[in-house]
Amino acid sequence: MENAVRRTYRHIEVRPIAGALGAEIHGVEIARPLDGAVVSEIRQAFLDHLVLFFRNQTLTPQEQLAFAQRFGQPMEYPQLKGLPECPLITPVIKREHERVNFGGVWHSDTTYLERPPMASMLYAVEIPPYGGDTLFANQYLAYETLSEGLKKTLAGLVGINSSTKADASKTREDRLRDTGAELKVLVGEHPVVRTHPETGRKALYVNGGHTTQFKGWTERESRPLLDDLFEHQVRPEFTCRFRWEPGSLAFWDNRCTQHNPVNDYHGFRRVMHRVTLAGETPY
Ligand code: SIN
Repeated sequence: MENAVRRTYRHIEVRPIAGALGAEIHGVEIARPLDGAVVSEIRQAFLDHLVLFFRNQTLTPQEQLAFAQRFGQPMEYPQLKGLPECPLITPVIKREHERVNFGGVWHSDTTYLERPPMASMLYAVEIPPYGGDTLFANQYLAYETLSEGLKKTLAGLVGINSSTKADASKTREDRLRDTGAELKVLVGEHPVVRTHPETGRKALYVNGGHTTQFKGWTERESRPLLDDLFEHQVRPEFTCRFRWEPGSLAFWDNRCTQHNPVNDYHGFRRVMHRVTLAGETPY
């Protein structure tokens, strides 16, 4: 199961970490002002590999934001408050005594918005001594490996995505409690198969975290097909796994991937800083 594109880069070094998606980028110091040519190559690698990883970076919230702005328009995360000194950076934290990790289910970010984010960037500030890796899955491959019959069935379907689906919303309870905020009820309707606006490739665009049913179908009617798709779209051969270190940064494309942070580090703190980049209405 190969997605990795072989391309020659002049300004960055691109090292794929798995057959399906994911590449480490070397030769870039994110905190420094970057040449347009370097940014263009990073953008190309992002489209080719779907999720990029940078290691050994030292970034203030402002520097992370400045890097993100080279690729899109940062937006506020709808459910949580950002850092007081930099509101467009959302802290993603699990404390020593907590049992649930933020976003700890397979999902694409906030698909319950009318215009879900195109990408997210997560910077590792504090990492547990073991565990806390993040898994990613390639949704082009998930779509392309379906039978022609199922592709036809899915072609006209719209998915209903909700911010209140229980498995995902319970992963945000600790952080909402911190700020006394209420969970906002948000619902987004999107094609089950979307076309990536930059690559033109089709990707499966339902996810276990937020998609509750097909439009015009009941939840009960939707469940068997949705459950089958949720299982298919994260088959091991569609995935990669990233082992974080302090100073790592991941930059993923929400239009054609899903991710799932592994909750296997109880008793330790994990602190990340996240920027979300605005996206377009899926079609
Ligand atoms: C998220 O879904 O933004 C969290 C990902 C992670 O903590 O690795």
